Amino acid sequence: MRKIYVLDTTLRDGEQAPGVSLTAQEKVEIALQLEKLGIDRIEAGFPATSLGEVESVQQVAAAIKNATVTAFGRCHERDIDAIREALKSAQDPCLHLFLAISPIHRKYKLHMDKAKVLETAAAAIRYGRKYFDRVEFSAEDSSRTELDFICEVVDMAIKAGASVVNLPDTVGFAMPEQYGNIFKTVKETVPGIEKIQLSTHCHDDLGMATANTLAAVYNGADQIEGTINGIGERAGNTSTEEVALALETRGDYMNAKTGLVLNEIYRTSRMVSKYTGMAVPGNKAIVGANAFVHESGIHQDGMLKERTTYEIITPETIGLKESKLVLGKHSGRHAFKERLIDMGYLLSEEELGEAFAKFKALADKKKNVLDEDIHALMTNKISPSSG
Ligand code: KIV
Ligand code: ZN
Repeated sequence: MRKIYVLDTTLRDGEQAPGVSLTAQEKVEIALQLEKLGIDRIEAGFPATSLGEVESVQQVAAAIKNATVTAFGRCHERDIDAIREALKSAQDPCLHLFLAISPIHRKYKLHMDKAKVLETAAAAIRYGRKYFDRVEFSAEDSSRTELDFICEVVDMAIKAGASVVNLPDTVGFAMPEQYGNIFKTVKETVPGIEKIQLSTHCHDDLGMATANTLAAVYNGADQIEGTINGIGERAGNTSTEEVALALETRGDYMNAKTGLVLNEIYRTSRMVSKYTGMAVPGNKAIVGANAFVHESGIHQDGMLKERTTYEIITPETIGLKESKLVLGKHSGRHAFKERLIDMGYLLSEEELGEAFAKFKALADKKKNVLDEDIHALMTNKISPSSG
């Protein structure tokens, strides 16, 4: 099994989600939880954005003992100097620089030709290497860049001294096969590629961030970048937890795994949601409130007979206590009977038939039938028509 390194950027790209702003204390608490989750590299922030950000990154850097702490900046000496200041007390620091490489960004944003992009990035990586043993270089908007130029950029970054080269799908534009092919081509053609790690970083504009990330891993990426709950710019980033669970569940297919402590996932998700104020959608994969809840009668019956009929991951894996069968209009007799037994009602088949008919009538009027509703039905305190 290949180990896949995880760079979590909840505290940088995640904080770029509209409306999110974390205090230094909140960043430290989330970072400590990410450390418990077994994240290899924690991206703490973008120090050149403000003095407060330098301070926050400094506090995260001082608190983290068992993970690399990275900080993000442009290919400017001023940004690199701010990162030096912010990471000065990190036990294992890494400088993370980026520059856009696509034709659209070169023409409209940077006003640079290819040669200037290569020269600017190489000079910044070299400057960074004077102060940092490890430098990650991100070639922004790689997925909309000519494949031969991506290879030239990776070659330049290796020669300038980068240890990780990231090829982001910055605007969530890539298709899994196309994105995977970028990694395959770079791995097969760039000389000295074995000296560095290749990283994937995807956005979810077309809902394909996790699929694209997995395509990159399948084609040789060594590191994945993501955020908890998938928060981030616009439609967000790849969800760190989705990739970890996909690799865990389909290790047979991918032959690769992260080193995450999976049963810390749920706790981490809820902490990030609380501090960012971004609610986790109920149907969100892995950490949504409904991810382990079964409603229909056929599914509930299957679950009661054998969990693997409808569950490919156990809730315990991510640190939750149990799956739930919610009683509603799609629920069947089997689940209803089990709930009655749990509540202490042992009925004959005939009594059960009567109670089930009342329950169905109530469920037609009420989305979820709670234990107190069942109790009231059983003690005749409510009639189905009062639902
Ligand atoms: O989406 C992106 O391209 C990024 C950087 C890693 C440049 O956030
Ligand atoms: Zn990003």
